[in-house]
Amino acid sequence: MKITDTGDLWWKNAVIYCLDVETYQDSDGDGTGDLTGLAQRIDHLAELGVTCLWLMPFYPTADRDDGYDVTDHYGVDPRLGTHGDLVELIRTARDRGIRVIADLVVNHTSDKHPWFKAARRSKDNPFRDYYVWRSEPPPDTSEEVVFPDQESSIWELDEQTGEYYLHRFYRHQPDLNVANPKVRDEIVKAIGFWLELGLSGFRVDAVPFFMETLGAAESEAEQFGDPHDHLRAIRSFISRRAGSAVLLGEVNLPYEEQLEYFGDGQGDELTMMFDFIGNQAMYLALARRDAGPLVDALRARPEIPPDAQWATFVRNHDELTLDKLSTEERDEVFAAFGAQDEHQLYGRGLRRRLPPMLDGDPRRMRLVYSLLFALPGTPTLFYGEEIGMGENLDVPGRLAVRTPMQWSADRHAGFSPAAPSRLPSPLTTGGFGPEHVNVADQRRDPDSLLTFVRTLVARYRESPELGWAPVEVLEQPHGSVLALWSEVDGEAVVTLHNLGPDAVVVPVDLTRAPGCERLADLLGEGQVEVDRDVVDVTLEGYGYRWLRVVTARSRRLP
Ligand code: NOJ
Repeated sequence: MKITDTGDLWWKNAVIYCLDVETYQDSDGDGTGDLTGLAQRIDHLAELGVTCLWLMPFYPTADRDDGYDVTDHYGVDPRLGTHGDLVELIRTARDRGIRVIADLVVNHTSDKHPWFKAARRSKDNPFRDYYVWRSEPPPDTSEEVVFPDQESSIWELDEQTGEYYLHRFYRHQPDLNVANPKVRDEIVKAIGFWLELGLSGFRVDAVPFFMETLGAAESEAEQFGDPHDHLRAIRSFISRRAGSAVLLGEVNLPYEEQLEYFGDGQGDELTMMFDFIGNQAMYLALARRDAGPLVDALRARPEIPPDAQWATFVRNHDELTLDKLSTEERDEVFAAFGAQDEHQLYGRGLRRRLPPMLDGDPRRMRLVYSLLFALPGTPTLFYGEEIGMGENLDVPGRLAVRTPMQWSADRHAGFSPAAPSRLPSPLTTGGFGPEHVNVADQRRDPDSLLTFVRTLVARYRESPELGWAPVEVLEQPHGSVLALWSEVDGEAVVTLHNLGPDAVVVPVDLTRAPGCERLADLLGEGQVEVDRDVVDVTLEGYGYRWLRVVTARSRRLP
């Protein structure tokens, strides 16, 4: 591949950074983070090397699910700023080479959305069919709820009209009826609006639920046809309006099923999907100090359309779900990284960030982030990961990991000068609190995690093979080691990660790289001399190396 290809298919080796405007930086002292504050922090993201900023929902909201309960798909939550502030942010980000994408939450609305308020007024209201209703009492759906601590059914009785409406998530989030063509028109209109304002795409919330026609009238569902046509129509609309805009989908399903959402070989549906399976396998591998589960997951990854891409991640804004592991495997991860009840959520996930899970062990933290950037795909960071922020378990549920960004050791971590009661969430305290973990201390410290992550980002960006290459796991004798060969068109990088505590010597077979003169150490100073077909590379306990295969034909930065 030519380096210029990376400018076209920009998402294939992007560095994505997810944040919630509300908890990032308060510019006017009212206690809530805002778009102007975020714009002031754009150079933190630029220095880190972020190329794509993912904004969690910034729309007007009833705020019962942290913005994922939208009341106006065209608006900006006034607490966060105005459309003008958003455009200024997008423009400033673009100046720094950063694209902006945002959550597209169209599986459901808030029950305070004017559509739903109208829909529940009467059975013949013109908006009634924007949502999904049933008149018969629903069967037991307690096994299907997403938030079992709050809900016991996916249907809720609307007292006024005596019918039940569908809600895949909380009961205050009624599902939209995508089988209704009017709803589909509304969705693309909103998409078009934000593209016009400068967004480069969307993180699409809850895609499988969004596409389903459960509960829709039979005739309507029949007319709707294949739900994948609906996703195809959205992709094609986006491509017409903004050629390089992306759809990054949340589809937590087994690989084979995910494949359908890429557009089954055609690549005409989602551009990207999060690799939930790989993420869960990574935690199992870390818990066991054995690369096996990760190797299995990587090998099970199906081939995807050439322009599509996986988004890899260590942590996101929800619970760290382990739902695709077996009960025994999940218990192993719980035992290793969150044995107490307060660490766990919904019986399937963890509500901790990585550093506390690893007891702050800097070697293992670096190992994991090195691994993130070395895995084939596009790394996605959740704000605060770059400095090693922890969670606050006193904050309920999933919100434990959504505490304010820690800029400095000053009052409220430099996030806001407001009174504590006005902050969106308490800060993290203890060993991972702002006195110990903050941007200001780490910015100019050559040994900090922030500096390390910056280096990973820079080397990843210079080595597009890492993002683009198909998975190739190298055979070698150590169970604790993941050895990957990332090669595209003759340019190759070998990455080695040792998940175990003991030093190992990894034999790397270079017969596949004729003409290899040396292996340049991309993360360190050194290089490995190549005098034989198989070279021995030493890894410390929890060690990692990225080695570029240098030949006379190499065009990449050494
Ligand atoms: C998935 C989002 O990631 C989560 O935060 C949200 O609560 C649900 N979808 C409902 O929108």
